[in-house]
Amino acid sequence: MKKVFLAAVGLATVLAHAASAATESPPKLAREVCSKCHGPEGISQSPLFPRLAGQQAEYLDQQLHQFRDRSRGDPHAQAYMWGVAGPLTDAQIKSISEYYASRKPVHGAAPSDPALAAKGKEIFFNGLEARNVPACAGCHGEQAEGQGAIPRLAGQHADYLYRQLRDFRSELRENETMHANVQSMTDDDAAALTEYLASQ
Ligand code: HEC
Ligand code: HEC
Repeated sequence: MKKVFLAAVGLATVLAHAASAATESPPKLAREVCSKCHGPEGISQSPLFPRLAGQQAEYLDQQLHQFRDRSRGDPHAQAYMWGVAGPLTDAQIKSISEYYASRKPVHGAAPSDPALAAKGKEIFFNGLEARNVPACAGCHGEQAEGQGAIPRLAGQHADYLYRQLRDFRSELRENETMHANVQSMTDDDAAALTEYLASQ
């Protein structure tokens, strides 16, 4: 009886320790490398660097593989992420993706241009038939939270999202699905959508 009790206490201590390690200390790679640009816990302040906190693990994993094999080749990917991702192993990519996915995402502040954000919301939920732009919510989710290989967009920097839409359109960033979605989108549509998404 006493033995069983001690074993249970031992297990509880180990579990408590593991739980506190997970909440208190970011992995070394995140602390020493990624946080320099993506901010502590993946919450960056500069719109040059996308926020990673609360992003979908599968999406993060896939992007890191695409930086490593250089198939995501827009200019900022080349300048900043090719070098960083080059030496990462599959195991490091998997664990760092799970770490950032487990962080709490930030929610955006109220939009500085509410009328523009309202126009973006309309496109996000209903698409734009005239320009063959589909409803984004159908894939990215009603809260723009993403799922699997489809990224969260809510709370991301507007300038970062705007740049990605432009790079998909010019095909500097490869992705057949997103190329088709943005082909006839105007700059004004993209500005409205990203104003809305950044405020979510
Ligand atoms: C020197 C600055 C810098 C460092 C260090 C850095 N990044 Fe990045 N990262 C960037 C920039 C800039 C982008 C945006 C690239 C683009 O616009 O295509 C980016 C994009 C990403 C993306 C794509 C996000 C998305 O929403 O598509 C992921 C994932 C990522 N970084 C993960 C990491 C991880 C993990 C580390 C640490 C191992 C890291 N980064 C270190 C600058 C950096
Ligand atoms: C058919 C599904 C689908 C629809 C509809 C869709 N997307 Fe996407 N979107 C994706 C996928 C998949 C990716 C990931 C692309 C990759 O792996 O590079 C993505 C990526 C993105 C990114 C890049 C995010 C990042 O962190 O770099 C943005 C921005 C984006 N979508 C915006 C939109 C907007 C705005 C709409 C509506 C006009 C939309 N998407 C409609 C599937 C979709």
